[in-house]
Amino acid sequence: MSEIWVFGYGSIMWNPGFRYKKKETCFIKGWERRFWQESSDHRGTSSKPGRVATIIRKKNSRCWGIAYSVAKSDEKETFQRLDGRERNGYERTETIATSSLGYSFECVTYVAGPNNRYYSEEDSVHSIARQTARARGPSGANREYIMLIIRELRRLGVYERHTEAIWKNLKDRTES
Ligand code: SIN
Repeated sequence: MSEIWVFGYGSIMWNPGFRYKKKETCFIKGWERRFWQESSDHRGTSSKPGRVATIIRKKNSRCWGIAYSVAKSDEKETFQRLDGRERNGYERTETIATSSLGYSFECVTYVAGPNNRYYSEEDSVHSIARQTARARGPSGANREYIMLIIRELRRLGVYERHTEAIWKNLKDRTES
């Protein structure tokens, strides 16, 4: 195969940061986006961590995002960059992406699983929104991160309950 695919569901959707040949709107089946990963390196600090996206396994669910095809010759450099950027708890994971055009292919995505030290499983939309409202890190405000994910989902025409509920709560806190 002359290419590999990288699937992004968080910042990789708007800022891949690596060279790619083309990109496709895709979903991965059996996964769902959650803001259960604390960020002290991108969207928060160690004293005031923010929240960023990870994905959890969930039967019959889909997580929509963007898949990028990368030339084999760029594979090493791409993973060096992404492994560095996603080092706080994320691991490369192989899965299958399905394009909105209907075909499927193997891809690699970064998953921050329950065994990493930054994982913070939390069902309360309120506490996630409270934490993200004020957090800020080297990559910018945590609020902006959530807003950019919402922007991508709107662009793809995708509605996600968890993400929308956090965004609504966050807006209510920060716009009054
Ligand atoms: C991703 O974008 O796919 C991983 C999580 C992130 O960097 O926001």
